[in-house]
Amino acid sequence: RARRALLHDLPQPAATLERLAVSDTPAPVCAEDYLELAQQRLPPDVAAYLFGGAEAELAARRNREALDAATLIPRFVRDTPFTPPGGPTLFGRRHASPLLLAPIAHQRLFHPDGEAASVLAALAQGVTPIVSSLASTPWPQLRQLAEDEALWFQIYWQGDRAATERLIERAAALRPEAWMITLDAPIGGLRWRLWRSGFRLPPRAAPANLEAQAPTQRTHDLAALLALAPTRDDLAWLRDRLRQPLLAKGVLHEADAEALARLGYDGIVVSNHGGRTFDAAPASLTQLEPIARAVGEKMTVLFDGGVRRGSDVAKALAQGASAVLVGRPYVAALALEGAHGVARCLRLLRDEYAAVAALL
Ligand code: GLV
Repeated sequence: RARRALLHDLPQPAATLERLAVSDTPAPVCAEDYLELAQQRLPPDVAAYLFGGAEAELAARRNREALDAATLIPRFVRDTPFTPPGGPTLFGRRHASPLLLAPIAHQRLFHPDGEAASVLAALAQGVTPIVSSLASTPWPQLRQLAEDEALWFQIYWQGDRAATERLIERAAALRPEAWMITLDAPIGGLRWRLWRSGFRLPPRAAPANLEAQAPTQRTHDLAALLALAPTRDDLAWLRDRLRQPLLAKGVLHEADAEALARLGYDGIVVSNHGGRTFDAAPASLTQLEPIARAVGEKMTVLFDGGVRRGSDVAKALAQGASAVLVGRPYVAALALEGAHGVARCLRLLRDEYAAVAALL
């Protein structure tokens, strides 16, 4: 029943306007508006966590600049009528749209319903959620909410194979359709904005499924932390360990993409982690086309990094991505309006993309 409500009873613009008028906040007319509204209304340290990037936040800015600078050339003379765009077929399953929910940690930080709200809302909108290793909601609960629908699971390497094996065994409760290991955060980023804000993760948002809290960037013992990152052999072990499709997230170099293809990985996400880890990274978008050209025939290429608008989705698809991961916008919507917000944000983005495709 909750899922049907998220599908059919989305607040209409007028209703939203009325509800938000209480706080004199305008209603979102596009998915991107949720970011602006959340900037205004979240506590400053939570906003710093969501919107902040690494160091001077250049990589986060580059993501946006590259998307803004990209253009698409529309064509009008055609033989057949326009058909609205559908979604891609990924690993044998047809998706309703080219959107996936990026794996984002600690979602109870933003709303008491946390991951339960975002998973339910995404499924209602036909968007596959990628559940985080650092989810603040028990995985069995998320599987129960999703009933028989597909979920993907994001793996953080747990320091060694035995600990990662235990993570995989616990995450099996989610029955993931696909697994995605994040490669680009062997240590946490230098999050100056976050540190300046005095942010502390509240207990309610702590990982609900892990054995122990991973060491943080504040440990400053780099050798110890880096010894916990996976090697090529570990990545090969992981490939052999899992029968379902396996992707790697955080790829920015063609040679890494080729190496992952050789290891038998089924896909990659071209990503700089939303600019949250390595500030000298290029924009995700500038790496997408060369990587897609190098490995696009061999593996599924996905994209994330600054997607806010329907035109961003179209730009990433035009440069070789099969689908895009959306991150901060849906979390901003979660913070403001819980499951309804996430559903509305994804619906807006889907509709924007369909309109852009029609204009294109
Ligand atoms: C975690 O992956 C983060 O980017 O905060």
